Amino acid sequence: MSTTLPATRPNNPHFSSGPCSKRPGWSLDSLKDAALGRSHRAKIGKTKLKDAIEQTREVLGIPANYKIGIVPASDTGAVEMALWSLLGARGVDMLVWESFGKGWATDVTKQLKLDDVRVMEADYGTLPNLADVDFARDVVFTWNGTTSGVCVPNGDWIPADREGLTICDATSAAFAQPLEWDKLDVTTYSWQKVLGGEAAHGMLILSPRAVERLESYVPAWPLPKIFRLTKSGKLINGIFEGATINTPSMLCVEDYLDALAWAKEIGGLDALIGRANANLAVLEAWAENTPWVDFLAKDKATRSNSSVCLTIVDETVAALDADAQAAFAKALVSRLDKEGVAFDIGAYRDAPSGLRIWAGATVEASDLEALTPWLDWAFEQEKASL
Ligand SMILES: Cc1ncc(COP(=O)(O)O)c(C=O)c1O
Repeated sequence: MSTTLPATRPNNPHFSSGPCSKRPGWSLDSLKDAALGRSHRAKIGKTKLKDAIEQTREVLGIPANYKIGIVPASDTGAVEMALWSLLGARGVDMLVWESFGKGWATDVTKQLKLDDVRVMEADYGTLPNLADVDFARDVVFTWNGTTSGVCVPNGDWIPADREGLTICDATSAAFAQPLEWDKLDVTTYSWQKVLGGEAAHGMLILSPRAVERLESYVPAWPLPKIFRLTKSGKLINGIFEGATINTPSMLCVEDYLDALAWAKEIGGLDALIGRANANLAVLEAWAENTPWVDFLAKDKATRSNSSVCLTIVDETVAALDADAQAAFAKALVSRLDKEGVAFDIGAYRDAPSGLRIWAGATVEASDLEALTPWLDWAFEQEKASL
């Protein structure tokens, strides 16, 4: 066994799946123009919020007739607002293949207690059969399952002329994977993922059909103020023009604006997606030549380019019981953490044991290249100590 440490360390050891690494070159100084100590309803605050909305539209290529709102409580807030405000008008298909999708299904069955719900669930590493989805119903799904590293391959399985609404949690997909707007009625994400922004607010993007539902359907349950998107049967347009429901952090807004400016500077959405793809390619090339590791995603077409989930397939480790396998993976992760070469790369707590390495646009391919010899090194050390 080689005990020699790899020669090169990643310049930036931040491979967490959220909050994710800040963009290359970021410093606190980037936030010096923040509208701190000012009202978010003053012209300066509202202008920045509106700018965040319009630049989001530009970078993500969101159609002019879609509404984009900044809402409380991060991606979770945006998803919950959508579920509570829109569901119940027709039956619902809930697609579940990892922890976050499962959480949304629990909300709909156990909290909203809707009775016409089909939960279509697949194991970690796979997708439910997308051909079984009924688009006469509302459909809730996660574009990129952050905890299994499995994403939908594209939007081809969604008909453009559907009757129900599609509600898509796209938090680890937006800015890393192409989102097909004509296939999405509600799309949500949060700032701390692919753009490496500060966590705080959620983005809620509505198609004209989603707005139509909001204006024509009143749920049977009460809605707290923080979830309310309509007043007297009409959409509250202010939410989609920068007049947030409650007080936002203008420091976080400034940081999101900085991230969007960086995105535009490097070439926009194509460049962001290109960076994530190049990052995945580094890990794929390594995994192909590394017998102890494999992707959790079984089908290459569904392999995430942002949250890369890996499983340890070495025969000796795979022969251990599940607890011992988990302990092995944890020890490997902790060894790399102690060395300062990779932070937060353990699998999510509800997912099968293994590694989860963030490969979104703010991560440099060169840092992943530097990381892979360290992964091999840590594996060798742990295996020797079995
Ligand atoms: C797919 C998915 N949905 C929802 C969330 C929760 O996001 P937030 O913490 O922004 O509410 C996460 C966080 O990792 C996620 O990956």
